[in-house]
Amino acid sequence: MSANVVKNPLRDSRQWPAPPPEIAEFHRRMPAFSPTLLLDAPDLARKLGVGRILVKAETRRMGLPSFKILGASWATYQALRAHIGHEPEPWGNINELAANLAHLRPFTLATATDGNHGRAVSFMARLLGFRARIFVPAGMSPARIQAMEKEGATVSIVDGDYDDAVARSSEESSGSCLVVSDTSWPGYETIPSQVIEGYTTIFNEVDDAIDASGLDRPDLVVVPMGVGAFMAAAVTHYRCGSWSPIVAGVEPLDANCVQASALAGDIAHVPGPHRSIMVGLNCGRPSLIAWPRLKSGVDWFVSVDDDAARDAMRDLADAAVPAGETGGASLAGLRALLADSAAAEELPDMSDKTALVIVTEGATDPRAFEEIVGRPHDSIGRVLTAVR
Ligand SMILES: Cc1ncc(COP(=O)(O)O)c(C=O)c1O
Repeated sequence: MSANVVKNPLRDSRQWPAPPPEIAEFHRRMPAFSPTLLLDAPDLARKLGVGRILVKAETRRMGLPSFKILGASWATYQALRAHIGHEPEPWGNINELAANLAHLRPFTLATATDGNHGRAVSFMARLLGFRARIFVPAGMSPARIQAMEKEGATVSIVDGDYDDAVARSSEESSGSCLVVSDTSWPGYETIPSQVIEGYTTIFNEVDDAIDASGLDRPDLVVVPMGVGAFMAAAVTHYRCGSWSPIVAGVEPLDANCVQASALAGDIAHVPGPHRSIMVGLNCGRPSLIAWPRLKSGVDWFVSVDDDAARDAMRDLADAAVPAGETGGASLAGLRALLADSAAAEELPDMSDKTALVIVTEGATDPRAFEEIVGRPHDSIGRVLTAVR
């Protein structure tokens, strides 16, 4: 297995404004919403020589197998509010919101995706009685495409990589179509910044669960990075108050655009093809609006290979967490960071410290999961110790 660990040369001590508090109340009104579990994984901690490993398991969130709905739902809501020019009539649940917005139909939500964000946008469109138009890079697995089609989306395969799909999706914007992208480009910044805001719910839930159980807050937080929007949420959360853990971001070795940008001193493009099995992280360019937070707030950039992700999936399955390929990235990154001799000289002794690993995805491709882990994903889920 090979890995690449780099200390962020651009790190500074900037603090970021806390996101709007009404996000939590918005998410509570979403269907089937409840906080995801934070698991204590003692066997994993022993294996890695860490005092405690906490796993935030985003394997099921509002009925979907990833965290992405948190950003897609909040950003869609905010974009629709801006589109109609006022607050929707008061609503208590999604059906009431859909009824209040029915006058917009026929109406479309569009985006590019490497899987999970597009599924979340399709899900929101279906709940609101809208259409979804999703652009995906060539080579996406049929299981991931079918999952979006099952939500009623029209999925178009773009001849190219994720960045080409993003460029194509940006052409869809019109009076009856909102582009709800999780990445940003010049002139398109508001909606992706609301996607980032929506993700912060995860870190608030982690704090609540830790506080309720009397555990220590994490000393090290490990987060996967594609375009870096999710990491931007982590930086917002952990660089806006007094608790400021070490933060490490994880990417695939051949799509490590955030690491490359940090080394270049500015946004850099890592050309494809990006063929990692961690498909949610196969991005060639960091999000424009995420980048200032990434360069300022992340401590370590870690790139890992697919074997490391497979190993992490198996370890997480043993800890009762059915993580998909992208979901395994954080644990793979933690292991690579701890094994790096230069990092070891700078990191505190982790044997009595707490690491938080965010598993952002469940088995989004069940067949691939079974091939890698050797067991079906739905046979996994025996909770060891839930920290609530
Ligand atoms: C499961 C999963 N984890 C992590 C990420 C990375 O998020 P971001 O692109 O915001 O860095 C993605 C992106 O699609 C994803 O699907």
